[in-house]
Amino acid sequence: MQNFEFYNPVNIVFGKGQISQLNKLVPAETKIMLAYGGGSIFKNGVYDQVKTALKGFDIVEFGGIEPNPHYETLMKAAEIVKKENLGFILAVGGGSVLDGVKFIAAAACWEGADPWDFLTQRSKYTVNKAIPLGSVLTLPATGSEMNGGSVVTRISTREKLAFMSNAVMPKFSILDPTVVFSLPEKQVANGVVDAFVHVIEQYLTFPVDAPIQDRFAESILVTLVEEGPKVLADRSDYEAAANFMWAATMALNGLIGTGVPQDWATHMIGHELTAFHNIDHARTLAIVLPGIMRVKKENKREKLLQFGERVWKITTGTTEERIDATISRTVEFFESFGIPTKLSAYGIGADFIPVVCDRFTQRGFTGIGERGDLTVAQIGEVLTLQL
Ligand code: NZQ
Ligand code: ZN
Repeated sequence: MQNFEFYNPVNIVFGKGQISQLNKLVPAETKIMLAYGGGSIFKNGVYDQVKTALKGFDIVEFGGIEPNPHYETLMKAAEIVKKENLGFILAVGGGSVLDGVKFIAAAACWEGADPWDFLTQRSKYTVNKAIPLGSVLTLPATGSEMNGGSVVTRISTREKLAFMSNAVMPKFSILDPTVVFSLPEKQVANGVVDAFVHVIEQYLTFPVDAPIQDRFAESILVTLVEEGPKVLADRSDYEAAANFMWAATMALNGLIGTGVPQDWATHMIGHELTAFHNIDHARTLAIVLPGIMRVKKENKREKLLQFGERVWKITTGTTEERIDATISRTVEFFESFGIPTKLSAYGIGADFIPVVCDRFTQRGFTGIGERGDLTVAQIGEVLTLQL
């Protein structure tokens, strides 16, 4: 196992009816921002629950945070936070609202020229100050409710970039599984696939004798495989919703990534598909991951066999046959949720591949993946396999 430091102070408040706890979790002595997305919280009753719990609190509302939150929108919110001297931000929504709030919280305290710099120049700038924030999660998928990551899209330059900081970890996150009841089929499918790929990024690398991390990771994968279809079939199945929600949080709260190599190439390439073609985050991962598994088969050989055996129960055949079956089974899993795994499903052809490759080259790319050896040419190969 590799050396590691694990820090996660997020207070998780889980279960039915827990939104009512907000008045004990949000500081009463300060003016707060209540931030949300395009309005789903008005339709499913979450907004009413939040407002009831926060009766008497001094609240400024900021709505309209888009899926793949836009820098342009978030900067407007950061200005309001500064102008109104707000002391706490409550995110009510999915990963986009949570990520957006993390950016707002950091941007409002940023003393440099432009907050965009802490996304483009991560080796130069560190975010170590932010307005405290909390969340009411409405979509299990990203793990943003229990981590310090945030992904922001700048529309004017078609860039989608991430930053990480302990300063933006939520003080608390309320996870009430009944929010799943109002999710459209597409968002359930996206959530299962995103969480699944988060585990894969931290697990499907090379072995370092870390059985705790491996078995935790496998338990999350198996849970998603078992519970995901139940949620899709019956959105009012509370137990399935609860297990799906906790699995998605556990997939990216840092625990399974401690002391093990991590990949993240699928996410980095996927972000370009969203930046240029506005494809939902999870759907980009379903396209890229099978290509990564094929191109990096040698690097990942031992873990591919372990993943196939322990998650998909593939135990017979030659090594090559077992690896191929593991990749096929993963593709089938994504497609069983109605999520395509080819670029052609979105009308994207080969002419797009050099656009993505150029972008990595322009950024002074030196290789990604668990061994840092995925080259720009191999990114091209991955996408070519997935045309
Ligand atoms: O905007 P509203 O009206 O709220 O509607 C949203 C949105 O249209 C809707 N929705 C959310 N909860 C709902 C609901 N509809 C009905 N009932 C509910 N309970 O779902 C739509 C999608 O929401 P969004 O927040 O965009 O989805 P998701 O949670 O999948 O977040 C995706 C974003 O998170 C980033 C992605 O890149 C993407 O920008 N990620 C963040 C990560 C992190 N912070 O650690 C890691 C991930 O890899 C990911 O990159
Ligand atoms: Zn993701």
